[in-house]
Amino acid sequence: MPQNYLFDPNSKAMNRGDYRPSEYLIPKTALHFDLDDTATVVKSQLTIQPNPAVKNGGGPLILNGEAMKLISLKINGQTLDRQDYTVTDKELIIKRPPSGEFTLEIENEIDPTSNTMLEGLYKSDGLLTTQCEAQGFRRITYYLDRPDILSAFKVTLEGDKDKYPCLLSNGNGDVTKTEDIGDNRHRITWNNPHPTPAYLFAIVAGDLNMLEDSFTTVNGKKVTLRIFVEDGYENKIKWAMESLKRSMKWDEETYGREYDLDVFHIVAVKGFNMGAMENKGLNIFNISLLAGDPDTTTDARLIDIEAVIGHEYFHNWSGNRVTVRDWFELTLKEGLTVLRDRQFTADMHSHASKVIEDAAIMEGGQFIEDSGPSSHPIRPDFVQEFDNIYSATVYQKGSHVLGMMKTILGDDVWRKAMDEYFGRFDGQAVTCDDFIDVMQEVSGIDLSEFRRWYSQSGTPEIEFDGHYDAKAKTYSLTLKQSTPPTADQKDKQPLYIPVSVGLIGQNGKDIPLTLDQDNSAAETTKVLHLTKQEQTFTFTNVEGPVVPSILRGFSAPVKITSEISDDDLIF
Ligand code: SER
Ligand code: ZN
Repeated sequence: MPQNYLFDPNSKAMNRGDYRPSEYLIPKTALHFDLDDTATVVKSQLTIQPNPAVKNGGGPLILNGEAMKLISLKINGQTLDRQDYTVTDKELIIKRPPSGEFTLEIENEIDPTSNTMLEGLYKSDGLLTTQCEAQGFRRITYYLDRPDILSAFKVTLEGDKDKYPCLLSNGNGDVTKTEDIGDNRHRITWNNPHPTPAYLFAIVAGDLNMLEDSFTTVNGKKVTLRIFVEDGYENKIKWAMESLKRSMKWDEETYGREYDLDVFHIVAVKGFNMGAMENKGLNIFNISLLAGDPDTTTDARLIDIEAVIGHEYFHNWSGNRVTVRDWFELTLKEGLTVLRDRQFTADMHSHASKVIEDAAIMEGGQFIEDSGPSSHPIRPDFVQEFDNIYSATVYQKGSHVLGMMKTILGDDVWRKAMDEYFGRFDGQAVTCDDFIDVMQEVSGIDLSEFRRWYSQSGTPEIEFDGHYDAKAKTYSLTLKQSTPPTADQKDKQPLYIPVSVGLIGQNGKDIPLTLDQDNSAAETTKVLHLTKQEQTFTFTNVEGPVVPSILRGFSAPVKITSEISDDDLIF
């Protein structure tokens, strides 16, 4: 077994069990940027409160901050004495903060041009842009840079009119109306009233072309939609705009989720370091995932563009309104949002071909991850770097684990439980366990065994064996599960696996299924709940020999290992 480098429990890894709530909260964040390619000055005004959920708090206030120059510090308007704080290359420590609510003002300087890590604010061709997930905001200003710190943001941007004609950040504002402040400079303010973690903060400044449209939400609210691109791409973004409108409508119809700001902006950047990013109200894309023209782009590519636009848009609820408590819980937002974008693509095009594609994506990527040195469960317990968990396991397998929950609950109960999840945790940072608790509570189904999918890595294998009894007219199907050891975990336990099954009769058609264990209506596809290492399911009233059709709809992210006979295959 190769050594597990990325998820080695013996290394000095970060541990999920080490989570502690913050002693301080930041309900309000006001930021002012004086934009410059090499010396951007950031003025931050933070409203800080003790966290009522933490007893015996009131210790030092430890803010994250890297690669910046501190200019000044004030608490409640008073400049802080040098002996009252410590600055290291990773932190700013205020030794004795006041008790109760106070205002902290920080002024610091950053250099976007020398920022080659491309986290925080960086220069990309002629643009200034940001990437803050997972821990980039700490390279912009000193902050509690963790996803469970949610704040209402007000952001003022100032810059040269020729270099940065377009000044964008998160929230409400009108990009076409900036204030002239003299010296060939202009200013704009953006307001995001929704409690938002710093990883969703974004700025884009530069010379951009824009396509404008609008969407009227189910409750009659008109949202201005704008897509911004660099020169040369302005005629290739109509498909993206149409995809965005389809995404907004689909999320209203399928999940009852309405958009919550007056504007929704997407910016495509040629040199963006990730695929795309769901910053609140200001999604940033790599141009390769946004520009496409139905006349010259392949269908497959257009569907990919639509899926990524959907993915980032759907994050507005699954990720932004309800976010993750800490980065170990990443699959809570990513697994859920991938599931939602898979459903969206299937609904827009073909359910059958989407299932085939999704199974191929798992086989071609995630199964390989499970069988190699970087195997890890969808919610890892330890990591070297949070960057390592942006993996096929967390995203793709995570989406199939949620898909299994949807299958176990059934579509109607799933929707009810999702409504409850979004409603209960709106504006909060939560965990995968919080999610499963809601699914369990709303459905009344015991999901305690099912939770093992969150802690056990590896690809389960299912063997099946069928037997037809002509006299009794029964067909018994035995399913056996096992999960081979992985680099990170040797011992594996049985999992709760929903196996969707049909039986095909001699006329080539599905037969109606009745199981001896239940009296539900006869359907042609049934979900078998495999929870033990081996189980036999007996179908009754089977009029003749049948051929089993196992794992319909790729109902679980597993491998089927039984060899089926040539005759059955041909049949
Ligand atoms: N959070 C981003 C996304 O999922 C980056 O991976 O789109
Ligand atoms: Zn995502």
